Amino acid sequence: MIPVQTEAFRDASLGDPPDHVDDRTPSSLSREDKVDDDRLLGQFIPLHYHYQMLQDDARMAPFEAAIAQAVTPGARVVELGAGTGVLSFFAARAGAAKVWAVERLPHLAQAARRFLTRNGVDDRVSVVQADAFEFLPPEPVDVVVCEMLHTGMIREKQVQVIRAFKQRYAARFAGHPLPRFVPEATVLAVQPVEQAYTFHGYQAEVPMFLLGASPGTRPLCRHLTYGSWFYDDEVPVALSCDAVLTAEEAGTLNALRFATRNLLAVIPAQRSSIDWDMNHLIVPLEHPLTVAPGDRVRVRFRYDAGDSMLALLAAIAVDRV
Ligand SMILES: C[S@@+](CC[C@H](N)C(=O)[O-])C[C@H]1O[C@@H](n2cnc3c(N)ncnc32)[C@H](O)[C@@H]1O
Repeated sequence: MIPVQTEAFRDASLGDPPDHVDDRTPSSLSREDKVDDDRLLGQFIPLHYHYQMLQDDARMAPFEAAIAQAVTPGARVVELGAGTGVLSFFAARAGAAKVWAVERLPHLAQAARRFLTRNGVDDRVSVVQADAFEFLPPEPVDVVVCEMLHTGMIREKQVQVIRAFKQRYAARFAGHPLPRFVPEATVLAVQPVEQAYTFHGYQAEVPMFLLGASPGTRPLCRHLTYGSWFYDDEVPVALSCDAVLTAEEAGTLNALRFATRNLLAVIPAQRSSIDWDMNHLIVPLEHPLTVAPGDRVRVRFRYDAGDSMLALLAAIAVDRV
């Protein structure tokens, strides 16, 4: 078992003020709901969730490969939201001369220091317990790694953190080019589906995360890309969709499936990229529709990157045209 300092842990996991929670509350979502959602599972990820990330090979393998691609020997690297420090370890192993690993939660920063020392890279990786919204390295860097990602860009603050970092970096290091970002780009898509929601005979329409197709999910329309950007370019905060899709299958349209692909490293010479396809997020609709092939449905939502799951649920409207 990993020792955790109880005070620091309690402090960090529940006691943190809900930083960066804004006041835009969809009408169907009470202020109380929004704050609870942000506090319970929001921007910060305490240590007891990190096993899920460390053992997820679909995430770890492309990050390892992309960091090996992006980090050249002698490079200086910043990692924003370092968690256990594993991505900073990959950077050090790829030959980085110096890595600043920034983590806001005190108990995690402490754990990262311990793990990085155990893995023999503490001479090159400095763990900085700080808010990524405020941190700047003492000198220009070559690469910024940031994995504050969630399907649909909800909950975590990747977009805002990188926007803020770029602004402050350009002001502090005027004349220096922006560092390379890992990931380099993100693409968001949505697809109307029929989703089975019966669990041992119990019907419960809950949001769910699934990798790839599942026996309980039936696509009814083609997917639609509703957002894409490169991190070294303009990164949007407001994400929205207002599109009419045509049903290709008959069924009960009772959910939207959100997919997110992160292009961790783009390799122009090979016309390829190292990608991470995140777990699909399938969210139930309040008012299911019965559709037949050829039926047209209008899919609408608008939310901001970093919004809570409840805010996303409250923002969705799907109607027959
Ligand atoms: C999805 S986890 C990724 C952790 C690690 N980079 C990895 O790939 O295993 C995101 C991490 O960012 C941290 N974090 C979130 N917001 C932060 C902020 N504003 N400043 C610093 N760290 C933050 C979380 O506590 C969490 O450890």
